[in-house]
Amino acid sequence: MSITLPPLLIVDDEKNMRLSLSSIVEAEGFDVRAVDSAEAALKLVGQEEFFMVITDARLGGMSGYELLGKLKAAQPGLPVLVITAYATPKLAAEAIKAGAMDYLAKPFEPEELLHAVGRCAERHRLLKENAKLRARVIEPYRLEQIIGECVKVRELRQFIQTVAPANATVLILGESGTGKELIAGALHTLSQRHEENYVRINCAAIPEALLESELFGHEKGAFTGALRLKLGRVEEADGGTIFLDEIGDMSRPLQAKLLRFLEDGSFTRVGGNEELRVDCRVIAATNRDIVDAIRRGDFREDLFHRLNVVQFLPPPLSERGEDVVLLADHFLRHFALTMNRRVLALSKAAQARLKEHHWPGNVRELRNVIERAVILETGPEIRPESLPDFHIESRLHRIEPVATQPETAGQSLDEAVSSYERDLINRVLEQNRFSLTRTADQLKITRHALRYRMQRLNINPADEEESPSLASADKAGETPRS
Ligand SMILES: Nc1ncnc2c1ncn2[C@@H]1O[C@H](COP(=O)(O)OP(=O)(O)OP(=O)(O)O)[C@@H](O)[C@H]1O
Ligand SMILES: [Mg+2]
Repeated sequence: MSITLPPLLIVDDEKNMRLSLSSIVEAEGFDVRAVDSAEAALKLVGQEEFFMVITDARLGGMSGYELLGKLKAAQPGLPVLVITAYATPKLAAEAIKAGAMDYLAKPFEPEELLHAVGRCAERHRLLKENAKLRARVIEPYRLEQIIGECVKVRELRQFIQTVAPANATVLILGESGTGKELIAGALHTLSQRHEENYVRINCAAIPEALLESELFGHEKGAFTGALRLKLGRVEEADGGTIFLDEIGDMSRPLQAKLLRFLEDGSFTRVGGNEELRVDCRVIAATNRDIVDAIRRGDFREDLFHRLNVVQFLPPPLSERGEDVVLLADHFLRHFALTMNRRVLALSKAAQARLKEHHWPGNVRELRNVIERAVILETGPEIRPESLPDFHIESRLHRIEPVATQPETAGQSLDEAVSSYERDLINRVLEQNRFSLTRTADQLKITRHALRYRMQRLNINPADEEESPSLASADKAGETPRS
């Protein structure tokens, strides 16, 4: 993929300086435009694209520092290099703080200048390349994609509209499949940043060792295999939004770095020592029980508070009443379209079946169920027979508190305890596809003790050992232990 590099802009009121700077960079093959004032530079930057600006600190009218401030406000992503004859460490620090990418004191060697220009050119090329790659896959999120007319979902959409324009950090909690990703996307689309990049990073999908360099980038040679400079995704999100999905899976050391980043947008690439700064809005999500993670020491409490400026908690599907049918209809139309099929209707009996189920996998589960039904159904209507047997699935997920089991009435304590024990063992056996080893593991007893209890409770596994077909099912999933 070849990226054409736009020119760089030189701002200096001294003609000789303009000429000598231009000839240094032109000799390296860069395109140059040169102007003699900050005012002219601002005008030009509004009209044309540049990959960087090099400005003298002292100019005739507006100073180079003022120009820097104005450029940072107008185009936060445009690197600005400041050159001055009166260098002091204090001034240099101020220029960097004001957003200059670097600071050169006169006199300087041409190599120093070219080094800075080369870095900016590389950065520009990487940003453009990444943007080009992603533009192909990203389809914008819209508020209307969040289907549902129950009060909670209406309020959710309203809240998204209220919060989106603010720059506040957002934390989205909620069970798996409740639409957290849709919420994050809609927040970006409805924000003032919608024309800038929306970068999503799934903290659970990237190996821990690589997550830091993915997020903050790495310098060339930072570690074995780091053959060239890699920009962080935060740099790609500069001016836009970064969505940190599955944040509950982030390691504690990286949580500390993220905390610093949230404070003022500053970070350091892996293997680098330059402090960089970007301006991006952070949205984070997790389906983990965050309070529990904090208690166990897996998640930093200070990070939680820093993220939790505005919190979204999409309700589980089982609390959305009639929305189940509305969503099912929506997915029916969607899959009919993508599979090039006639749109089917939901039979009354199928609707009833959908409404009965408690949807532990929430909207994602419903979507999968409808996709399967559209594939299986040959008639004009979705019949209950084309829906899965929810009974098995709900037994897999349901955690029944003892107190709510009515069977305990009239039973002795021993009978009630045995019956609870039998149900629990049966359920865990089912969850583990009848593998005794894994069931024993999960219940934290030995395999021998499990077998003993099963005998006592009259639980009959297919065989004492795992049956061959189930054992091979095990292998298809994860490798069985022992
Ligand atoms: N209200 C909704 N209307 C339409 N589609 C929805 C809705 N909520 C969720 N979906 C769809 O359900 C699927 C799961 O949603 P999403 O990926 O946003 O869930 P999630 O909360 O991020 O889950 P996880 O915690 O597992 O990552 C997606 O295909 C999404 O488009
Ligand atoms: Mg998600």
